[in-house]
Amino acid sequence: MGSSTRCSKGAVASIALMETLGIHHLGVAVDDLDEAIETYRRLFGAELEHREVVPDQGVEAASLRTGGSRVELLAATEADSPVGKFLAKRGPGMHHVAYEVSDIGLSLAELSAAGAELVDTEPRRGLFGLQVAFVHPDSVHGVLTEVVSRV
Ligand code: CO
Repeated sequence: MGSSTRCSKGAVASIALMETLGIHHLGVAVDDLDEAIETYRRLFGAELEHREVVPDQGVEAASLRTGGSRVELLAATEADSPVGKFLAKRGPGMHHVAYEVSDIGLSLAELSAAGAELVDTEPRRGLFGLQVAFVHPDSVHGVLTEVVSRV
């Protein structure tokens, strides 16, 4: 996967595209994590699945389940963290879309081969001990995009 195949005329016949297992979660930047969790509980019956401070990202995150879907709420613990800068610049709101993949290393190689600009060229540890990496929004029509895998 990920390599182009050339036909006899030398033109690119097909490129094996990265396969995702679906949307793993939507990331939402919030000013107040407790208040946001309560909002999602009250409005959507969401259940708190996990909550964790990630010091090296300057973020406190809460994962909520609603139906078969997951929303990740992100609050900055430091103003100069990526989420802190996002909030200062754009205010609370949609932050990223995360796709689950079976092999994040392979997916990063495929994304790179397809010309995507990677924020993380190597996977790093995300919530739940998942492996995560981000793709620059300039490569995805303005949407910060995360790929997630369990291993
Ligand atoms: Co995420």
